[in-house]
Amino acid sequence: MNYTVDNNGYYGTYGGAYVPEILYGTVEALKNAYLDVLQSPSFKAQYAHLMKHYVGRPSPLYCAKRLSERYHTQIYLKREDLNHTGAHKINNAIGQVLIAQQMGKRRIIAETGAGQHGVATATACALMGLECIVYMGATDVERQYLNVQKMKMLGASVMPVQSGNKTLKDAANEALRDWCCHPDTTFYVIGSTVGPHPYPDLVSRLQAIISEEIKWQLQEQVGRDYPDYLIACVGGGSNAAGTYYHYWDNPKVRIISAEAAGLGVDTGQSAATIHLGKLGIIHGSKTLLMQDDDGQITEPYSISAGLDYPGIGPLHAHAATTGRAKVLAITDDEALRAALELTELEGIIPAIESAHALAVLPKETFGANDIVVLTVSGRGDKDMETYARSPLINSSRQSA
Ligand SMILES: Cc1ncc(COP(=O)(O)O)c(C=O)c1O
Repeated sequence: MNYTVDNNGYYGTYGGAYVPEILYGTVEALKNAYLDVLQSPSFKAQYAHLMKHYVGRPSPLYCAKRLSERYHTQIYLKREDLNHTGAHKINNAIGQVLIAQQMGKRRIIAETGAGQHGVATATACALMGLECIVYMGATDVERQYLNVQKMKMLGASVMPVQSGNKTLKDAANEALRDWCCHPDTTFYVIGSTVGPHPYPDLVSRLQAIISEEIKWQLQEQVGRDYPDYLIACVGGGSNAAGTYYHYWDNPKVRIISAEAAGLGVDTGQSAATIHLGKLGIIHGSKTLLMQDDDGQITEPYSISAGLDYPGIGPLHAHAATTGRAKVLAITDDEALRAALELTELEGIIPAIESAHALAVLPKETFGANDIVVLTVSGRGDKDMETYARSPLINSSRQSA
C-alpha cells in the first residue's frame, strides 16, 4: 500500500481537486509550483531557520514516567504544545506563507476552528508583513475567545461566520468563497491535510518535521529510530500526518488515530467521521464525509473546536480503509478525563484536541517494553474556559 499522493492527487480512492472553474488556474499554479519551492535551497534555508530560531524546534520528545507507570509501558510525548503559538499549526502556516511570498501573493486568507491555525497564520503574516483575514465560525469565536483576541492583536481581521452550525466547516466554506472572488491576489493557507490537491500533500510535507525529529530523538533516547506505536488525534489530520510521515512504510510501527465521538458515535452528536462517514466531496476533496441518505452534510459535534469537522483528510481515510491505521472514537468525557490525568500525573495541561489522543491509552493494551510515541498537538491555554466549566474536572478538583 502506498501512502504518498499519486500524480493525480489521490491516496487510493480519496483525494483529487474538485474546485470551481474560477479556482482551477490558481490551484493548478500551486500544484505546479509547490514541490519545486519546497525543494529549493532558499526555501529550505528560510524554513529551517525559522523553525529553529522562531518556533523553537526541535520540540522535545519527553519520556513521561508517571504516565508510563500508569499504563505499564514506555510513553514518550512529542511536545508540539511547546512550539511558539502553542501548537503544531505553526509548522504549516510558516511554510505556506513563505510559499505565498515566493508566488507574489500578499493577501492571505485562512479558516480556523480552535483558533490555533488562525493564530499561527496571523503570526506568520505579522512576521512577514502581509495582510491576513481569518474566517471562523461564530460558535468557535465564542468558545476560543482567547485565540480571537490574539489574532486581532496580531493584526488579522477575524470574520465570524454565521452559517451552518457556525464551526470549522462553515469557516472553510466562507474562506473558499473569498478565494473565488480574489483568486489572483490571494493565497489560501489551509490549516490541515484537507482541501483540493496539492494541499493534503503540501501540509503533510510541512508537518513531516514532527516525525523527522522523532526518528533521531528516539535513536538518541532508546537506541532505535522507530516506536512500536504512534498515537495522534485527527481533525483534518495534520498533526497525525506529520507524526506518521516517516513511518507509513514501516510495518513494525502500529498507528492509532483518535477522532472525536462527541457525545457518542451513535448519539447524532458526533464528529467521528471515519466511523460514520461515507464517500463524498467536501472542500475540494473526495473523502469520507458525514452525510445523510440524500448526501446532505450532517452537522458535526465535538467539545473540541479543532476536531469538530464532518470530513477527514483523504490520506487518513485511505489509511483507515486499508487497515494501516486503527481509529478510535473518543467521547468528550473521555477526552476531559484524559486531559485531567495528564495534568495531574505530568503537570502538562494539553489542548482538548490532544486530550483525545491521550484517551487512547486506557483503551489499548501495550507491552511493558513497548515504545509508545504520542503527539501532544497543542497546549490547553485556549481551553481553560472549557476545562473550568466541566463538572467532570471540577468535581475531581474539589474532592482532591
Ligand atoms: C491543538 C490542536 N490539535 C489538533 C487539531 C486538529 O487538527 P489536525 O487534525 O489538522 O492536526 C487542532 C485544530 O485546530 C488543534 O488546534
